[in-house]
Amino acid sequence: MSLRQFSKITTTLLYARQIRTHSTNVPSTSHFNVLGIETSCDDTAVAIVNSSRQILAESIRFQHNLHEPAGGIIPNVAMMSHQRNLPEVVCDALSKESLDIVKDIDVIAVTRGPGLPGCLAIGLSAAKTLAAVLRKPLIGEAHALTARLTHTELIPFPYLTLLISGGHTLILVTHGVNKHTQLGTTLDDSIGDAYDKTARLLKIPWLKGQGGGPGAALEQFALDGTSDNYRVPIPMRKDPRRKNEMNLSFSGLKTSIRDLIEREQLDLEDEKVRKNLAATFQQTAIRHLIDKLELAFDWCRVKEIRLNALVISGGVASNKSIRASLEKLANDQFELPLICPPPRLCTDNGAMIAWAGVERFRVGLKDDYTIDHAPKWSIESLSDGMG
Ligand code: KG4
Repeated sequence: MSLRQFSKITTTLLYARQIRTHSTNVPSTSHFNVLGIETSCDDTAVAIVNSSRQILAESIRFQHNLHEPAGGIIPNVAMMSHQRNLPEVVCDALSKESLDIVKDIDVIAVTRGPGLPGCLAIGLSAAKTLAAVLRKPLIGEAHALTARLTHTELIPFPYLTLLISGGHTLILVTHGVNKHTQLGTTLDDSIGDAYDKTARLLKIPWLKGQGGGPGAALEQFALDGTSDNYRVPIPMRKDPRRKNEMNLSFSGLKTSIRDLIEREQLDLEDEKVRKNLAATFQQTAIRHLIDKLELAFDWCRVKEIRLNALVISGGVASNKSIRASLEKLANDQFELPLICPPPRLCTDNGAMIAWAGVERFRVGLKDDYTIDHAPKWSIESLSDGMG
């Protein structure tokens, strides 16, 4: 469906709305449905989630076939693909449950960031237009609350959040829907970037027909490797100025792998060598996460913050080795559960945005139709400044 057809639909919907003479379309009851639109990177995703924590419908178009040949996301290609796919994905999600956007959708939520500026702008323009013509509240969101949708019961605040994706590497105390204290962030590359660059260095083929891009491919590749043969430094451990801070650093890790290859003249034609290097990279990244989470747990103990869980989310949180190691850390050392969304809801998806819309709308938050995209979204900008 073309953009022209899409605008025709929105015009028709506006007309339909006038005929039905809806007044303000602000939900008056405690039960409401949110349509979430996500176009931050390479997947076009839409979902409808209700205020009772049910995902009513989802639709997604993957683009990995378009980007794999280049070994990374090509922004222009991603933008064109979102433009082509978004109208159809919105219609598809609505039609799955025979939902009427005028009658059945109460709030429009959309990813504001982080992400590729051009890609974010496409989702945001569509969401703003839909919200404005239909007179629905608009909520611009980032993803930090998904686990409260997907876990068997609503996780009580406060909890420690590790948000690990292509755009974020954050350790936060989540005190409430819009109350986060940022304890640490990456000083350079995100962990997702480090996975992607290392996967490219090791020429790891992407997984066919599955999302997750280079990071998921590296995880799969590392399964047959061992980290026992090589040693690379765990980031920041030997730096007396930095080792006790909760910030993270991932740019040196890829360089350490490259130095190791050069120093030991490792043969990258040998698949076993590449698999061992992938396992070494992953193990070192996990050790670094654990170092910093231990500091964060200590910080919370000193501040007498009674945590209810360790929650991990973002695309990299779909990694099973990371989940297993962090589960052990949380359970054994801190007697807390590890809670993470199912892998398919860790990577970019519409449900996480729709759910964040539910949470924010419920506490009375909404945005103006003039909001801009925020490619380098800071979680603390959501916060009311607890620290
Ligand atoms: O949250 P996300 O889907 O999107 C953005 O941040 O835009 O995260 C994408 C990142 C990419 O770097 C991707 O390679 C990485 O998450 N990723 C993974 C896995 N699945 C996705 N990294 C490691 N292991 C995985 N299984």
